Amino acid sequence: MRTQVAIIGAGPAGLMLGRLLDLAGIDNVILERKSANYVLGRIRAGVLEQGSVDLMTRAQVDRRLQAEGLVHHGTDLSFDGDRLRIDFTDLVGRHVMVYGQTEVTRDLMDARQGQTIYEAEDVSLHDLDGKPWVNWVKDGVTHRLDCDYVAGCDGYHGVSRASVPQSALTTFERVYPFGWLGVLVDKPPVAHELIYAHHERGFALCSQRSMIRSRYYVQVPTDEKVENWSDDRFWDELRRRLNPETAEALETGPSIEKSIAPLRSFVAEPLRFGALFLAGDAAHIVPPTGAKGLNLAMSDVAMLADAFIEFYGERSSVGVELYSARALSRIWKAERFSWWMTSLLHTFPENGPFGRRIQRAEFDYLAGSRVAQQSLAENYTGLPS
Ligand code: FAD
Ligand code: DHB
Repeated sequence: MRTQVAIIGAGPAGLMLGRLLDLAGIDNVILERKSANYVLGRIRAGVLEQGSVDLMTRAQVDRRLQAEGLVHHGTDLSFDGDRLRIDFTDLVGRHVMVYGQTEVTRDLMDARQGQTIYEAEDVSLHDLDGKPWVNWVKDGVTHRLDCDYVAGCDGYHGVSRASVPQSALTTFERVYPFGWLGVLVDKPPVAHELIYAHHERGFALCSQRSMIRSRYYVQVPTDEKVENWSDDRFWDELRRRLNPETAEALETGPSIEKSIAPLRSFVAEPLRFGALFLAGDAAHIVPPTGAKGLNLAMSDVAMLADAFIEFYGERSSVGVELYSARALSRIWKAERFSWWMTSLLHTFPENGPFGRRIQRAEFDYLAGSRVAQQSLAENYTGLPS
């Protein structure tokens, strides 16, 4: 088999890249280790920046997003019960859209024209400095795909980054001593907008998927086990971290999903090794506090698709050569913002009383400074690429 671009991974990065290449008439094949249903079953991000919404429009997959997505003009921060609304529209003239990653993935899967091979096991990459090819095993049979380029869109634990010699890669990492325990519930959201709450017992987030489905998170230690959290324990802990009126208004019910995600900041540099390009979580991880993971994956593949379109359309390698530097410039700004939001809102026991006072001062500064609020709003709604 032969294709122009072999895409590893059918998460949002791989599927969006495949869609943009399909629309440009560039042949591509996606190889995904799991089944389509497994990919759709993963509950992850929920907030789309304007740039990601625009990309869905460019990819002609925004019909449901426009009909069902919820426009959010602001968000709430809460610190020990004191509330501060960040009004994105007033501050920077932009907004975000609440639309789940599962829905983005479903829309892209439904629109897919090129070939996607699900349950492709043991994917391996070869001859990345020469004439690249990819191997995989399906139903016990080994297959081979020759290509011009490989796009590594296979997430943090994927084979693409692992195929690069360690000496060719510099990695930067911060692992936080906590994770997020998330619960999905079929109840209306507690508030119209999201609430990011700092409390001495730990961070909490009130998010949503629709007018009748809510997503809530609480900070838990890294080694916490989801089995230790009954629904009742989760709701009690969440209420304790919210201000009394919000806690009172919270509608609870049986969880339809419950999982723990570790928090990590990670960047690999560069993003290109010969014919291999890394994009999305394969290249970088942000802690989820700034809602950037999915959005960064989208902006990476928009740049990568444009580079391939330039290469095949104009026979110019400029975009391909510049992809790594261009994408990394945006990635590091999102890394900074995600680290900053995480530092402001979580409890870091090792930072002691001094650290908490600094967090309080940061919150008070935000509350009193329109300029500081503008900076938050500018980053949260998405920096230009
Ligand atoms: P992924 O979505 O990870 O997709 C990669 C795909 O590659 C997967 O389908 C995987 O099965 C496949 N794959 C892996 N290895 C191979 C292989 N060897 N061969 C073939 N295929 C392979 N972001 C937020 O903004 N907010 C959140 O609340 C949030 N929650 C998260 C919770 C969890 C548990 C995780 C892991 C991430 C979360 N994120 C969140 C981050 C966000 O979901 C990711 O940034 C986003 O999924 C990145 O998309 P991607 O396509 O790059 O990677
Ligand atoms: C959600 C996740 C986030 O990381 C975030 O910052 C906002 C919302 C969510 O899953 O809804």
